[in-house]
Amino acid sequence: MARISAGIATSHVPAIGAAFDLGKTKDPYWAPVFEGYEFVKEWIKDNTPDVVILVYNDHASSLMMDIVPTFAMGFADEFQSADEGWGRRPVPVVKNHIELAAHIAEQLVIDEFDITLINEMDVDHGCTVPLSLVFGDVEEWPCKVIPFVVNVSQFPTPSGERCWKIGEAIRNAVKTFPEDLDVQVWGTGGMSHQLHGTRAGLINEEFDRRFIDLLAHEPEELKYITRLEYLRETGTEGIELIMWLIMRAALGYGVEEKKRFYRVPASNTAVGHVVYEAKS
Ligand code: DHB
Ligand code: FE
Repeated sequence: MARISAGIATSHVPAIGAAFDLGKTKDPYWAPVFEGYEFVKEWIKDNTPDVVILVYNDHASSLMMDIVPTFAMGFADEFQSADEGWGRRPVPVVKNHIELAAHIAEQLVIDEFDITLINEMDVDHGCTVPLSLVFGDVEEWPCKVIPFVVNVSQFPTPSGERCWKIGEAIRNAVKTFPEDLDVQVWGTGGMSHQLHGTRAGLINEEFDRRFIDLLAHEPEELKYITRLEYLRETGTEGIELIMWLIMRAALGYGVEEKKRFYRVPASNTAVGHVVYEAKS
């Protein structure tokens, strides 16, 4: 049977992707950010999964604002990196595991999550920057990737409790897939940041550090954080943290925390990153 073996969360700041693509990872500004990912780059060599379920949000790069699904899955065989205004990132194409994707979609609908299926899309920095941070500069991504898209751009965004439940449903779906697959779930985005308006540049280190503290061993406390609290405490884009909750719920109760990292500055965002191995 398939099983979820580990989870990774990381911010997905587009400027990190640009620094990576332009060979600036050793620049004084960026070096301390990339150092935070040295652990995961080594760890993944011994823990390369067959499939990553990559929970992220599209930033109106591929899914324009004409249709805004709350939860959606990429259903194409492959996905190119999106052109977000300065050309496509020069990264490998993302290849789907369509049989597992189809199984998860079916199980989610049975579980009363009416998931949207996207038969054609490109994947933006929310998906490709984490892949670069973990796998580095490679010719091909070393595993299949199921893009799992969450609306955090337009009200009404899903609640933390709803995200927790869909994470549990993903876990149950993976467990019932008959093939012997090693699956990881990644959650991207966050931590605190606000890109626009009078509070642009807002960072809330105290909130972010407490979120990381609780995520490993008392994660269910976090599912009650309301959307208004995210807005007030972490800025307009801090709501991206709900995707970390989906990852965490998919891992089940016990996790071993292998890495935590927190860094400011990195563009406009407090960069956070964790690696968990599942115990059950
Ligand atoms: C930044 C962070 C994001 O999560 C994003 O989607 C876009 C920009 C930033 O810090 O610049
Ligand atoms: Fe983002």
